[in-house]
Amino acid sequence: MQKVPKTKYKRFRGVDLPDRTWPEKTIDTAPIWCSVDLRDGNQALAVPMNIEEKLEMFRLLVSIGFKDIEIGFPSANDTEYNFLRHLIENDLIPEDVRIQVLVQAREHLIRKTYEAIQGAKNVIVHLYNSTNALQRRVTFGLSKEEIKQIAVDGTQLCKDLVDTVPGTHVDFEYSPESFSDTEMDFALEVCEAVLKTWDPPVGKKIILNLPATVELATPNIHADQIEWFCRNISMRNQVIISLHTHNDRGTGVAATELGLMAGADRVEGTLFGNGERTGNLDVVIVALNMYSQGVHPGLKFENLNEIRAIYERCTRMDVHDRWPYSGDLVFTAFSGSHQDAIKKGMEQMDPDAGALWQVPYLMIDPKDLGRNYQAIIRINSQSGKGGVAFVLENEFGYKVPRLLHPELGKMVYDLADILSRELTPDEILEAFLKEYSEITSPLFVEDIKEVGRFSETREIELGIDLSWNGEKKHLQGRGNGPINAFCNALDKEGLKHFNLVSFSEHSIGSGSGTQAAAYVQVHRYGNSHHWGVGVDTDIELASLKALVAAINRSEP
Ligand code: KIV
Ligand code: ZN
Repeated sequence: MQKVPKTKYKRFRGVDLPDRTWPEKTIDTAPIWCSVDLRDGNQALAVPMNIEEKLEMFRLLVSIGFKDIEIGFPSANDTEYNFLRHLIENDLIPEDVRIQVLVQAREHLIRKTYEAIQGAKNVIVHLYNSTNALQRRVTFGLSKEEIKQIAVDGTQLCKDLVDTVPGTHVDFEYSPESFSDTEMDFALEVCEAVLKTWDPPVGKKIILNLPATVELATPNIHADQIEWFCRNISMRNQVIISLHTHNDRGTGVAATELGLMAGADRVEGTLFGNGERTGNLDVVIVALNMYSQGVHPGLKFENLNEIRAIYERCTRMDVHDRWPYSGDLVFTAFSGSHQDAIKKGMEQMDPDAGALWQVPYLMIDPKDLGRNYQAIIRINSQSGKGGVAFVLENEFGYKVPRLLHPELGKMVYDLADILSRELTPDEILEAFLKEYSEITSPLFVEDIKEVGRFSETREIELGIDLSWNGEKKHLQGRGNGPINAFCNALDKEGLKHFNLVSFSEHSIGSGSGTQAAAYVQVHRYGNSHHWGVGVDTDIELASLKALVAAINRSEP
């Protein structure tokens, strides 16, 4: 790196707009969305999509709700051309979808593009040329006047060729490539010339797309440029201002959002931000940011996992684990305090369908995106006490008593520490039952029967075959219920070394598969407290199993 970077890199100077109004604006309505996955996204893939993959992607984009879809650059090569012909000839483009085709402002490419769109119903011809000083000097060696003329000639040819596609409704989009790096007055001058040439009839708007082809400045500077342009372009009501941000500085989303506040009407971008270099704008993020503020974006992402899977298959790109909304880990809390807060938030959520979403650390309900709560909490040694109970309840239906949470949490976290990894929900259940339920020594019950019932005292008598440290015994005991009778039987034999402290039970599941879970806490005389858990289809047996487990855990 440079010791003095300013000798190599200079600060980007924005447009002078001291009376900017965009900071006071909010995004209250959805923009027109245009997917450029099949063009900007596809052109940036190591292995571009084949026709089947493009078709799958096209169907996906339609199902999400895009009405403008840039399907490619048909004059660029046979695959692009043939894909467009395939869509048209097989009538695969829904009535309400406009396909968009990109073309450089060069005569033979424009002519080829018009050949390619023959027979389509609604098309946006998207013309572009570079307008910024760097490209004018380094790439083209052309003056401003010559660059403007390229745009005007290209537009004129696009207009003249409309008559060659009868039956096709042609809309027109012009992009001054690298708009954000172009002197604003020159970008405006070129766009005015294009506008004058196209001369949109009343009611048929022209799209002026203002790309941040390379993101060079902070998003506020982008917003200033967009507001300045919106204020200064003539015939504003005949023009759709479109944004097309890239993500070189990692702020493509912010630049788009501020650009919308600054007055833009339309957004071009890709799913999950695929595109040249650091990618295009991720439309999923901008749309769901809107949604999380209570504004429906008009795009459907309620099956985000499926959308992501199709995207990953077609592009061979991965979505990062921490990518907003769609990453594997974005609805997962590792920190114990976060887990506890999420659990409380979920428990306290108003069940009314219209209730406001108010869960700490989760800014959106994962369910709205087809992602579920089960994946929210994973357990590792950093997790808090609520996390384990949350998993046992949500995954398996165990309502573990609150008093047991701390030691249960510690037991599971210690295990995660020993294994040096997270535990899956199944492993947590296994550890829970092994520790609190499946303990058969010193007391092992072989058989237990009700041998008497006394209506006057409402007592029962149990006959119990058990072994204690391997020594077989037959005991009898009376009580006002099975637990009481069992304790009394042990007491008579001198085997009761505890007081019963707490007992609770509940059912798990419903119908013929219903099971009962019971939780018993005993206090060993002069010593500590111990929990036991029992599970059985018979509620009384579940409670006795819980008692036996607690006794065994209390014995030294
Ligand atoms: O990033 C860009 O400038 C483009 C144009 C062709 C619109 O993709
Ligand atoms: Zn682009």
